[in-house]
Amino acid sequence: MSQILRGAPVAQKILSEVTEYARQHKLRLDIILVGHHEASQIYVSHKLRQAEKVGIKAVLHHLPESTTTQELIGLIHHLNETPEVTGMIVQLPLPAHLSEEKVLDAIAPHKDADALHPANIGLLAQGRAKWAPATPWGIVEMLLHYNLPPARKHVVIVGRGRLVGTPLALLLSRPMAYGNATVTLCHTYTENLYSYTRQADILVVAVGRPHWFSAEGVKAGAVIIDVGIHREGGRLIGDVQPEALSLASAYTPVPGGVGPLTVACLLDNLRRLHQNLSQ
Ligand SMILES: NC(=O)c1ccc[n+]([C@@H]2O[C@H](COP(=O)([O-])OP(=O)(O)OC[C@H]3O[C@@H](n4cnc5c(N)ncnc54)[C@H](OP(=O)(O)O)[C@@H]3O)[C@@H](O)[C@H]2O)c1
Repeated sequence: MSQILRGAPVAQKILSEVTEYARQHKLRLDIILVGHHEASQIYVSHKLRQAEKVGIKAVLHHLPESTTTQELIGLIHHLNETPEVTGMIVQLPLPAHLSEEKVLDAIAPHKDADALHPANIGLLAQGRAKWAPATPWGIVEMLLHYNLPPARKHVVIVGRGRLVGTPLALLLSRPMAYGNATVTLCHTYTENLYSYTRQADILVVAVGRPHWFSAEGVKAGAVIIDVGIHREGGRLIGDVQPEALSLASAYTPVPGGVGPLTVACLLDNLRRLHQNLSQ
């Protein structure tokens, strides 16, 4: 029987610390959403609701699809200069006509709650980050909580996206208590993908393809972290097929695995941003 790695207990632990901190300090999270991407609207509503629950003021800036890169950067500059704003995120993906890079570069690094600014990714690469992108950090918290430390393990990550795969590869390979793994990062140019994934002690699938990863690619007894999240036929499913999960010694379910940790770690980042400013 595989162990099911539920995100809720880990998220609760993080959120109770954030709640305690927010009782003593005024924290404000500004969320910028452009257009009407369906999944993004759902994610943003979770973030707003959870922020309110823990006592963080959350302000939504919902901009029309026609917003230009310059207009968006103008708003970001304004929030950079607004002292009440502890941190901000720009909900990704942006509409195709907007430059994601220019937009993320415009966020002041000390207000970058998603830790996607090049300065923050640079600190992460050096093992000096004080906060990290929420989903990869949530995965680290999950592994540590369930006593599955990545040190000495071979971690194979499928997907090198900006939000998940790339920062996770950096985190897990650093010479830090949360890292010290041997990391292989796979993507669309990887040949014979399953020859790598079958070597994984910990397999992370962050590709964005519903029920795509099959049992053929799994070493029996591996730990599987399924990051994908898709709405299909009225239910949520991940990137990994159920037959593949059944081979694992432990796996994250979808829903209820990595998802709750993404929101908890984002809000925890607000606490970290505030602490960083007060130092
Ligand atoms: N649970 C949560 O809270 C949460 C949070 C964030 C994201 N997600 C989910 O996580 C998934 C990944 O997110 P992301 O933002 O990192 O995605 P992304 O930026 O679109 O990256 C997807 C990655 O998958 C790789 N890929 C696609 N097809 C592949 C294939 N056939 N073989 C090997 N690699 C392949 C791509 O490779 P190339 O680079 O070569 O194109 C790319 O690196 C999505 O399903 C997203 O919804 C979940």
